[in-house]
Amino acid sequence: MAKSVRGLYPGSFDPLTNGHLDLIARGIKIVDELVVAVLRNPDKHTMFSLDERLEMLKEVTAPMGNVRVESFDGLLVEYAARRGAQVILRGIRAVSDYEYELQMALMNRKLNQDVETVFMMPAEQYSYISSRLVKEVHLLGGSIRDLVPSVVVERLKAKTPI
Ligand code: PNS
Repeated sequence: MAKSVRGLYPGSFDPLTNGHLDLIARGIKIVDELVVAVLRNPDKHTMFSLDERLEMLKEVTAPMGNVRVESFDGLLVEYAARRGAQVILRGIRAVSDYEYELQMALMNRKLNQDVETVFMMPAEQYSYISSRLVKEVHLLGGSIRDLVPSVVVERLKAKTPI
């Protein structure tokens, strides 16, 4: 019987975007189970609390069969080992992402050679979307409707009515 592959898709997801969703949809085609792992980052200021980020991801991924949403702290590779994940999934939108992603992938490989990083490209219409720009555009009154799921639009509006 073929080995079952568990993938880990880590990130801050502050908040999740349509680009993240596109990557999750691509990821579940190549692994048997995908764990979306939200970083619990007490040092980093986030707009959304950990619970809020988890809730939004859970709501949006609920119709997808083989996706779980969890949180983690500490080293990603240690979390991957604890969860029995063989693959770390990361998205690369443009060449500018590559350097940081390469550095992380090689550091993670140095720390644990049993976990492979797999890069996937989101659809090109999402290549300019980032959580940071979504927040900035919203705070400055621009429309983010095509950039994030509707639950995120509603949560952003509730948090920062404009
Ligand atoms: O969405 P982000 O902010 O680009 O995600 C970054 C993340 C969560 C993947 C990265 O910060 C991470 O893996 N943090 C966990 C701590 C760790 O393992 N650091 C060493 C990895 S090089």
